[in-house]
Amino acid sequence: MDFGLDGKVAFITGAGHGIGRMFALSFAKEGTAVAIADINQQWAEQAASEIVELGGKALAIPFDVSDQEQVNDAIQKTARQLGQIDVLINDAVSPYLTGSLEELGDTEWDDNFRINVKGSFYCIKAVAPLMKERRYGKIINMASIVGRRGSVVPTSAAYAASKAGIMAITSSAARELGPYNINVNAMAPGQIDTPRWRDARTDEQIERTIQGTALKRMGRPEDLAGLALLLASDASSFITGQTITVDGGSLCM
Ligand SMILES: NC(=O)c1ccc[n+]([C@@H]2O[C@H](COP(=O)([O-])OP(=O)(O)OC[C@H]3O[C@@H](n4cnc5c(N)ncnc54)[C@H](O)[C@@H]3O)[C@@H](O)[C@H]2O)c1
Repeated sequence: MDFGLDGKVAFITGAGHGIGRMFALSFAKEGTAVAIADINQQWAEQAASEIVELGGKALAIPFDVSDQEQVNDAIQKTARQLGQIDVLINDAVSPYLTGSLEELGDTEWDDNFRINVKGSFYCIKAVAPLMKERRYGKIINMASIVGRRGSVVPTSAAYAASKAGIMAITSSAARELGPYNINVNAMAPGQIDTPRWRDARTDEQIERTIQGTALKRMGRPEDLAGLALLLASDASSFITGQTITVDGGSLCM
């Protein structure tokens, strides 16, 4: 399917690893130039080299999404070196993913809000003036089904609350930026088999997860690519302010 993304530019946070990395590779295959923005410089550089070796266009941007100055610099640098920013994907996420309410401490709570919520806000704030000027932009935020239904240990309540916050930012930004032809949507994945997800669970928890989906399987990062490409393309130009669930039929069970 041709999504018409050839020649576009995407700034993807957390693109050094997991789902974000898969997004970067999927967009690059469509001919989109990608800025791999990640706190882990080595991962960002590796992902960018892989894309370049495959014939794509990529720029490694080491940065901390929770530092507003670094975010502004990263967005400006991308626009300067790649010409513009058509697509922003807010994928970076705090590294903590464990704990019941009693185990949950201030550090985990604050990190989830600082990186997941404030980081997404900083990126939207930095990219909005550039998109408004061109009257064109697609913003995709990463929520989660736990932002809708609440956490299931070992996923923490802090993480779930941060993802609910991202859903609220999505509809707020959609309302504010809609008049400038900027679409803002979010994806709410179910359980996706990334090292981060698997490492935090026992075999029994993984089996229970699989049985809890209508499709009776774990999601793969690639299962999210189609929706990301669609939301970044003009095929979805009348969709905005939505959080779209991609969970293999987990919430419907
Ligand atoms: N894996 C799942 O089951 C699942 C389910 C629902 C939603 N999601 C969402 O999908 C997204 C990706 O998840 P994943 O499993 O691929 O995560 P991951 O941990 O594999 O990757 C996260 C990336 O974010 C980067 N990062 C962390 N802190 C950062 C910071 N301060 N600044 C810049 N980059 C930073 C990391 O270096 C890493 O490359 C997240 O937003 C997550 O909440 C994942």
